[in-house]
Amino acid sequence: MSKAGILPLFEQQEVKSKQVEDYEKIIEEYSKEFRKIVLPEGDTIFGFWMQTLADLDLLDLELGGLTDSYTIDPIRRTVKFSGDPERLRKRVAHLEKVNGKTTLYTDFVDAYGDTNAYAFHNLYPYKGKFYPRVVRTLINAFGLTENSLILDPFNGSGTTTHEASLMGIKSVGIDITPMGVMITKLKNELLFKKPKDLEFSNDDLIAILNDIERKQWNHEDETIKNLMLIVYFDTIDAFARTSRYRKKGEVGLFIEKFNYIKKCYEKLMTIKQKYGLEFTKADILEDDALRLKDMEEFKEKFDAIITSPPYYFSIDYVGKDKLAYEYLGLDMKKIEAKYLGMKNSLPKKKIGGLPAKVIQYYEDLKVSIEGMYNALKPGGKLAIIVGDSTVSGKKIPTTIMTKKFCEEVGFTFKKLIFNPLLGARNRAIRGESIIICEK
Ligand SMILES: C[S@@+](CC[C@H](N)C(=O)[O-])C[C@H]1O[C@@H](n2cnc3c(N)ncnc32)[C@H](O)[C@@H]1O
Repeated sequence: MSKAGILPLFEQQEVKSKQVEDYEKIIEEYSKEFRKIVLPEGDTIFGFWMQTLADLDLLDLELGGLTDSYTIDPIRRTVKFSGDPERLRKRVAHLEKVNGKTTLYTDFVDAYGDTNAYAFHNLYPYKGKFYPRVVRTLINAFGLTENSLILDPFNGSGTTTHEASLMGIKSVGIDITPMGVMITKLKNELLFKKPKDLEFSNDDLIAILNDIERKQWNHEDETIKNLMLIVYFDTIDAFARTSRYRKKGEVGLFIEKFNYIKKCYEKLMTIKQKYGLEFTKADILEDDALRLKDMEEFKEKFDAIITSPPYYFSIDYVGKDKLAYEYLGLDMKKIEAKYLGMKNSLPKKKIGGLPAKVIQYYEDLKVSIEGMYNALKPGGKLAIIVGDSTVSGKKIPTTIMTKKFCEEVGFTFKKLIFNPLLGARNRAIRGESIIICEK
């Protein structure tokens, strides 16, 4: 092409970049104006993620534990408080700003672009997970400190233990499924890794995937070994479920998923440094929550329990990880048999025409609540999150049964917050209830 031919092109480019600059200015002005009008007026303001009346309840709960006194203005979406603003800023899960400064939680939401996927909460798509925000709120509401000890006897993929670790609070998590335990331990250990531990080139990752597929994968660092396996399980599961990923190929998806976790690590370390956070490791046990009442070592040991038992037959926790269990050579039937409500012998008693299987589930649920009572210190706090499923068109009244069992074993009932699941596809469960009790 001649010189004359290129020049007009350059001129065009210049015009274009000028346009871009102007455009960005306009957008900047626009968003300033927009924020001025849309953001609440005040220096301690609601998080934009507060959407429901339950969120208002949760804010109220956590302010109770984090401040000396407070008032909430739900129309202006502002809060007035007295107490330690720095503690509030680091801990609170429902405010965007405290005294004009963004909160740690806002940084999480901004960095990860989500209110639930921060740190390693999104490491693996474990079904029926807690919202980390609710766990954080309950920890705040219970006034727990760095000297407290928390328990989750149905810890699943470890939302309670992970959130406690991020807040520098020691915790113990129990779950019956090896996959839950593996994921939880990973979340625990990744918090203490060095950046160089996660340095893998694409070629390294391709070689690792090959080794995993040939069942020859090993690594001197147990955490890295398991991390790669979890990324692999997630990859093959995503592949088996949707054709959407075919284009990327298994290798592409494996690399993408690993890099996602690495990014999560990097973002977390930046925030850790900004706020001077100290993380704590949790103790993770593969065990049966029904044994809790006989565990002498846990008697009156905990300040709080934050937990969610499996809802009556709503999720097949073991079956959904079928591919992973097959790979690990673990017998799913054996794991399922220890599952809450899965004893072989059916109960003889009938309660109000409920199916025998449901009664069996309730029997186990009550035993597990007795165990929780045993494990809490006097004055200890309990939050159980449950939902009512519908089986063959009949509602299974788990929420109220749970509350009843708590009272029967000796707890004092304090509060119930119903948290609707907005846009929930599974209409069998409309929402879940947080039942709060005290020993
Ligand atoms: C609703 S999920 C909890 C999810 C968890 N809150 C999370 O965020 O990942 C219930 C958990 O109870 C576990 N579970 C079922 N029966 C159990 C038992 N007998 N002992 C301990 N855990 C059990 C299941 O494996 C499942 O992970």
